[in-house]
Amino acid sequence: MQHLKNCQGLAPAFLIRSQRFRISKSIIPSLSAWDGHLSSRWRSTGGHGKQKYSSDRVPKFKFALAGLLAGTGAVLAYKLHQGKVEWAASSAQLPGTQASALPVYSLEEVTKHCSLDNGVWVTYKGEVYDITEFVAMHPGGDKILLAAGGALEPYWALYAVHEQDHVLEILSAYKIGFLNTESLKKQESTNTLDPYSAEPTRHPALQINSLKPFNAEPPASILSDNYITPSVIFFKRNHLPVPRVDPETYRLEIEGLPGGVVSLTLSELKSCFPKHTITATLQCAGNRRSEMNSVKQVKGLNWGIAAISNATWSGARLRDVLLHYGFGQEVAAKAQHVQFEGLDVDVTGTAYGASIPLNKAVSEEGDVLLAYEMNGEDLPPDHGYPVRVVVPGIVGARNVKWLGKIVVSDEESKSHWQQNDYKGFSPGTDWDTVDFKSAPAIQELPIQSAITHPAEGTLVDSSHGELTVKGYAWSGGGREVVRVDVSIDGGKTWHVARLRTGDKEQQPAPSPPPGRAWAWKLWEIDIPLLHRAQELEIVCKAVDSSYNMQPDTIAPIWNLRGVLSNAWHRVKVKVNEDFKDRK
Ligand code: MTE
Repeated sequence: MQHLKNCQGLAPAFLIRSQRFRISKSIIPSLSAWDGHLSSRWRSTGGHGKQKYSSDRVPKFKFALAGLLAGTGAVLAYKLHQGKVEWAASSAQLPGTQASALPVYSLEEVTKHCSLDNGVWVTYKGEVYDITEFVAMHPGGDKILLAAGGALEPYWALYAVHEQDHVLEILSAYKIGFLNTESLKKQESTNTLDPYSAEPTRHPALQINSLKPFNAEPPASILSDNYITPSVIFFKRNHLPVPRVDPETYRLEIEGLPGGVVSLTLSELKSCFPKHTITATLQCAGNRRSEMNSVKQVKGLNWGIAAISNATWSGARLRDVLLHYGFGQEVAAKAQHVQFEGLDVDVTGTAYGASIPLNKAVSEEGDVLLAYEMNGEDLPPDHGYPVRVVVPGIVGARNVKWLGKIVVSDEESKSHWQQNDYKGFSPGTDWDTVDFKSAPAIQELPIQSAITHPAEGTLVDSSHGELTVKGYAWSGGGREVVRVDVSIDGGKTWHVARLRTGDKEQQPAPSPPPGRAWAWKLWEIDIPLLHRAQELEIVCKAVDSSYNMQPDTIAPIWNLRGVLSNAWHRVKVKVNEDFKDRK
């Protein structure tokens, strides 16, 4: 990797060679599959069977962090169409071209091509690619340049999503040759670094949405078995490899306070500030995203209904720590946000980050914790060991794990996840028109509920003449769930469910103070089966203390990123024959 150090950032646009972007014809169907609109963007230019990208529909896709290295394969596929793309029918660079037609290169030759003026070459599985034009057209190109002149494997190992057919197909359009045997051997011996090799062991019950980075949810059928979700099955949402942090050398830095930079050890955090415990539900902005796909494809992990869990969290109050180190009127007059940085970093060394409004961070009622315990034990590695911020009532994304730095600031976090992700848009906004600056970062989440039992498509046992339905309900911003309505006839008639704030055998928890209901409620109801229906459509909807209710359908809240998916949850089940015969 030594050669990478010599590579500079993106060269000015005028240095870019004038050679046109080439794309293999065989890529077109796979890209079209990714984006239903794509076919409309291709028009025949006549002659030579060439097709050109219609420049009047060039997408305004300005927000990219991602790209060849740092984003998803889908982003790569999309961004490939940002500029003029030309189908060149007769080129040695086309996939399927005979291997013998392409030259063989040494690693030394590849290494020389590590900038836009010398050309950007990379290798992948012994093949050499000239991706100069691709890099030049992508705002995330500075990340791609990290691999310039060397192998893609160590970077793609960070984002295993790249190893998909359509991404490899796109890459194949840039193939210019092969590495010689000696270089290949040399490279293989240095390409063994897997940033995910030290990931924690996970519970086998978890349903995995992506392995690297690790994202998983518990099966819905067991989610509501416990009021406090056991940590091992608590949903896990990681954007990067889990950092292994040594508690002895761990330091939490705090900036933006009058006394200068503070550096706190773990034991100081534990011993110098009172320990508080709260029960709080975390929900990912993408929970129930998969249901949005039924309206129109969205971009993101295909979460079911269980990207939500409930735990007890213990730690120091952020408010106490900030006040201790000098937060007061003077700071409050200038600052509006508190930024958090994780110790998990991407290939460029950029950390996961997010911010919350200052008011939430410092208010007595905000209950924001610098948590070092989850469910009475040290935080597990997946959930932020040794310290994470728990911002109750606020979207999961702002609950930064492996917390390394806090900055009290007049600005929001500049992080990709604060600026260009986790925002909501109109159903009419698509990737061509989206302007991430136009929407605020999601903070408090809307009212939510879902059915955990019975499961979609099951044959229900109706021998008792009634159907038991179970689920969860939660609302953001500390708004308490006050009612859950359940229907088994698709929403024509409704029944009010029993709400629980603890496990069945426990005394119900006392009502939280107004505006501080951070934990979900579990609900349950037995509904008489009075009709001879062969199929039932079970529906649930919750109401919070502000009388916010869930929307009845998904279409009006559909958004391109598939966040804030909180329409009435619907589950269809079949009724067993015995019951029908009895009637
Ligand atoms: N913090 C860091 N440092 N890195 C991350 O990838 N993911 C965020 C948030 N905090 C993330 C992070 C997101 S999107 C969510 S939903 C929650 O963590 C998930 O927390 P959990 O994995 O403990 O359930």
